[in-house]
Amino acid sequence: MPVGLVLIGPPGAGKSTLTGALLDRFHLARIATGERLRAEIAAGSALGRAAARHVERGELVADGLIDRLLRTSLDEIPADTGFLLDGYPRNVHQADVLDVVLRDTGRALTAALSLELPDGEVVRRLGGRRECRGAGAPWVLQVDDAAAVARCRAAGGTLVQRDDDRPAVIRQRLAVYRAETAPLLDRYRAAGLLRAVDATGPPAEVEARAFAALSPAQ
Ligand code: AP5
Repeated sequence: MPVGLVLIGPPGAGKSTLTGALLDRFHLARIATGERLRAEIAAGSALGRAAARHVERGELVADGLIDRLLRTSLDEIPADTGFLLDGYPRNVHQADVLDVVLRDTGRALTAALSLELPDGEVVRRLGGRRECRGAGAPWVLQVDDAAAVARCRAAGGTLVQRDDDRPAVIRQRLAVYRAETAPLLDRYRAAGLLRAVDATGPPAEVEARAFAALSPAQ
């Protein structure tokens, strides 16, 4: 059975930062709903237009739209290839849909990785997050990382802040996480799938903890 991971954690916990290492280690295909939504919004598609105001406000996008996005994205992945869901599921409905879709396509979850980070560090990381654009594929950095900022500028890039990384929207995203997403942790704990990881400290340390947490399951 191919590996099937869900990556859960508050906004800014480092989910996207960790995915590169996980994809390499376990040879997974990634589905990142937030990234897909931002691409649709940038392209001005019907989905993007319907999702935009929810993303800007830090609310969850309507379940019907996300259900379709998940099904289409999973259909693009060969059945014998493992997958990583970054930022999905985010509420009980989405977790129910995921169970059905996986069963219908002969797949299964092998672990739910939960990144744990105190709110203060969430606010610090998201407040300092910038995307380097205009210098190859966009990449994410912290604005106080002078070496990364210099690398971006030397390559002709500019630093752009995500619209939903404003303080009021960060607070709303955290509230939504607590109310709608965090309850899923009990569900995955009860199913024996939950692997909790301390997400404080530098990325290499978080990566090592994540691999250690996943090793008995793989
Ligand atoms: P999404 O894009 O998924 O945002 P999120 O879950 O809020 O997570 P982020 O992307 O903000 O953070 P991350 O955990 O990936 O952290 P990162 O690695 O970037 O979703 C955005 C919106 O789309 C939602 O609010 C919602 O509206 C909508 N949406 C998405 N999925 C949906 C769904 N399923 N249903 C309904 N709506 C949905 O790291 C953050 C920063 O910290 C970076 O600057 C990074 O460099 C830095 N950093 C990372 N790790 C470390 C470390 N160990 N030490 C120091 N700095 C670090």
